[in-house]
Amino acid sequence: MRSIFPVLLCLGLVAPLVARAGDTPPKNPFEGDAAAAAKGNSLFNQNCEHCHGPNAVTGVMPRNLRRLHARHGDDMTTVFYTTVHAGRPAKGMPSWQGVIDDPDLWRIYTFLETVQDSE
Ligand code: HEC
Repeated sequence: MRSIFPVLLCLGLVAPLVARAGDTPPKNPFEGDAAAAAKGNSLFNQNCEHCHGPNAVTGVMPRNLRRLHARHGDDMTTVFYTTVHAGRPAKGMPSWQGVIDDPDLWRIYTFLETVQDSE
């Protein structure tokens, strides 16, 4: 009993993540909204610029967020969403959950959508 409890606990934590992976990807509520993109640009330069470059211009891979679509294609929304929420602490990418609220994260994403390199 003592040894199986942590296993059950882990399954309980992992199962919702696995289930979510098959669901429809997260959707940007501001898609194509120019005002949201402008606000997102400013939020980006306040919060992300020092690692990802002003206006997302940087030569450093894989930090170049103008290549999100080139790198991830249709998965770019999911990659953005999961990366900004969970971060990649081992690689130096912080988690923004609880720091920037979801609507503002989507505004940043809306800005990034307007500056994607054409492949
Ligand atoms: C302290 C530095 C730092 C800050 C600040 C930062 N990032 Fe990152 N970010 C990184 C690093 C480093 C990576 C690359 C991680 C890797 O090698 O997988 C990354 C990766 C990403 C990725 C995944 C790119 C890909 O193609 O895999 C996204 C999306 C991202 N960051 C968004 C943001 C956003 C949005 C902000 C601002 C709210 C932000 N980051 C702020 C360091 C940072």
